[in-house]
Amino acid sequence: MVADATRMDGKVVLITGGAGGIGAATARLLARRGAQVAIADIAFAAARALAEELPGSLAVQLDLEQAESIEAMVARTREHFGRLDVLHNNAALLGPEIAANDTDVERMDTLLWDRTYAVNVRGTMIACRAALPHLRESRGAIVNTVSNLALQGHLIQAAYSSSKAAIIQMTRAIAASHGVHGVRCNAVAPGMTMTPALREAFPAPLREAVEAETLRDQLGDPEDIAEAVAFLASDAARNITGQVLVSDGGCSSHVPGIGLFRQFFAGDHA
Ligand SMILES: NC(=O)c1ccc[n+]([C@@H]2O[C@H](COP(=O)([O-])OP(=O)(O)OC[C@H]3O[C@@H](n4cnc5c(N)ncnc54)[C@H](O)[C@@H]3O)[C@@H](O)[C@H]2O)c1
Repeated sequence: MVADATRMDGKVVLITGGAGGIGAATARLLARRGAQVAIADIAFAAARALAEELPGSLAVQLDLEQAESIEAMVARTREHFGRLDVLHNNAALLGPEIAANDTDVERMDTLLWDRTYAVNVRGTMIACRAALPHLRESRGAIVNTVSNLALQGHLIQAAYSSSKAAIIQMTRAIAASHGVHGVRCNAVAPGMTMTPALREAFPAPLREAVEAETLRDQLGDPEDIAEAVAFLASDAARNITGQVLVSDGGCSSHVPGIGLFRQFFAGDHA
């Protein structure tokens, strides 16, 4: 029988922001595929509740703004499980208040910019730096979550989107430096994904605007992004490194304004 390379039996996966949204869906999927999962989050009670649901998993307290907290997260995971095979940098500085103040560059608040880069870029770098010696040992992988906004211009979220673009280049740099040591590093770029938080907070007209640009008949779920992460984390992706896998229902793959074209050609190509 041919082994299923997407299975994660015997592997230890550390997920930042693992208690909520896409991170929690990924923790559940990887646990179903046989991995032991460390769920690291600033929301520790939620991380613990999920860890109780997933046998053999571990909840870890994490604040990505604090370098010591990130280093302690990696050390705790390595100490608890005795190995580390995958680091999944999923957490980011998010939330309605952050999004409302993250506008265009002319109106940018310097403190918000710095905080965004501290959590998203510096936090990811420190986690990778701490994990790499262990990943070299296990010939493991890093999967960084970025965003389709890192690849396209928008009216809003200049700090968030440019920080995610920085993570893409960090992904390539790590892939280039550590490939010869057996470590792969890739990124997943979700489009708008209907997490519980977003379902509650995102204005309906803007959601409809994104739906009009989507090539499938619905927006992605956290489980869709989890599938992309799980693939890149697994041996099924052993020949893939330094890449960005976009999971956005085709939003970023077509000419601008396809929603309007769809209405114009209704009946022919719709
Ligand atoms: N949902 C989307 O539409 C979407 C689209 C593109 C990219 N993404 C990316 O996907 C990833 C997950 O997003 P989500 O929508 O599931 O978000 P979410 O808010 O549902 O979950 C994020 C998790 O990260 C944790 N977190 C936040 N700040 C932290 C910190 N300083 N230290 C430790 N943990 C922290 C939160 O407690 C939460 O559990 C993020 O990187 C986000 O940028 C999401």
